[in-house]
Amino acid sequence: MTIQKVGVIGAGQMGNGIAHVAALAGRDVVLLDVDAAFVEKGRKTIEKNMGRLVEKGKVTAEAGAAALARVKAGTDLALLSDADLVVEAIVENEGVKVDLFQKIDALAKPSAILASNTSSISITRLAAATKRPGQFIGMHFMNPVPVMQLVEVIRGIATSDETAAAVVQAAKEFGKTPVECRDFPGFVSNRVLMPMINEAVFAVHEGVATPEAVDTIMKLGMNHPMGPLTLADFIGLDTCLSILRVLHRGLGDDKYRPCPLLVQMVDAGWNGKKSGRGFYRYAAPGGERVP
Ligand code: CAA
Ligand code: NAD
Repeated sequence: MTIQKVGVIGAGQMGNGIAHVAALAGRDVVLLDVDAAFVEKGRKTIEKNMGRLVEKGKVTAEAGAAALARVKAGTDLALLSDADLVVEAIVENEGVKVDLFQKIDALAKPSAILASNTSSISITRLAAATKRPGQFIGMHFMNPVPVMQLVEVIRGIATSDETAAAVVQAAKEFGKTPVECRDFPGFVSNRVLMPMINEAVFAVHEGVATPEAVDTIMKLGMNHPMGPLTLADFIGLDTCLSILRVLHRGLGDDKYRPCPLLVQMVDAGWNGKKSGRGFYRYAAPGGERVP
């Protein structure tokens, strides 16, 4: 099937990135959030990132402007009614996602594919909340979306071959490398990544080292582009905690129990870079790190 119009719900760090790559790939995009201010912030981020690509000569000024013009933004779900593919990128909470997918299912056109960018939640269960489980799939982009190559493609038990093929093709046309995996808690990416991040938090919790030392050891010692706590701040500590809870509950093994320090930081609203404070402090929500 041809995917020309893409709806993206959630204009946060992932949603605006997904809208960015889809628009650059020539798709008409509708970017939605619950509040006009969040949508505007998402649009501004796309403008900034597109501007950076133009400045570096990676995209022509005309192509950048045309991509931006293809992104329509709003708060009304009805704008999705003629989308061919809807990618959900809202908060990592199963109940909230189910509620949203039931609404999308009721208004999207019958042929539309519904995809979730969830980091960990069962695609099969989200699909079961809709009347089109065959046209439901996990399309898991990595952060920051404009830069990262991977899209993890996760089929639920009922996902059709046609749906998987269309989403794999779309991911390729968005300039990404899709890799398929099965629908198990945390899939592959977060089943492997989150225990490392959690262990790094335990190292701080137990006084083994400071966050700076943990990050420097992993960055210089393992050649990781970011230390695990810088990465956790970048992902969002609330999102990391939600993923760990899905892994813990879904796989039934205490090795995935979230570190109490992580729980406490999220309780405090220290959600990482996007909130201005996590393991490090930032000049403003989403701003530069400060000493
Ligand atoms: N949006 C768009 N572009 C960005 C960006 C952003 N938020 N951040 C950086 N970039 C671009 C820069 O413009 C730069 O582009 P050029 O190569 O064209 O100059 C490039 O990325 C490199 O940026 P910098 O030189 O500023 O910084 P860096 O070399 O430290 O790279 C990074 C930044 C790409 C984010 C790198 O630190 C990195 O790869 N970090 C690890 C990211 C990672 O692991 N992501 C996965 C997270 S887990 C996940 O996504 C799944 C989940 O479910 C939680
Ligand atoms: P975020 O907090 O930056 O943004 C989420 C956005 O969704 C917010 O703007 C919020 O207002 C909006 N939202 C919440 N409920 C909504 C609703 N009912 N309708 C419309 N909009 C709603 O979160 P994020 O980091 O972009 O993560 C979004 C999803 O992507 C999560 O499922 C997360 O697990 C997944 N993900 C995150 C990362 C990451 O590194 N942060 C990477 C891959 C996947």
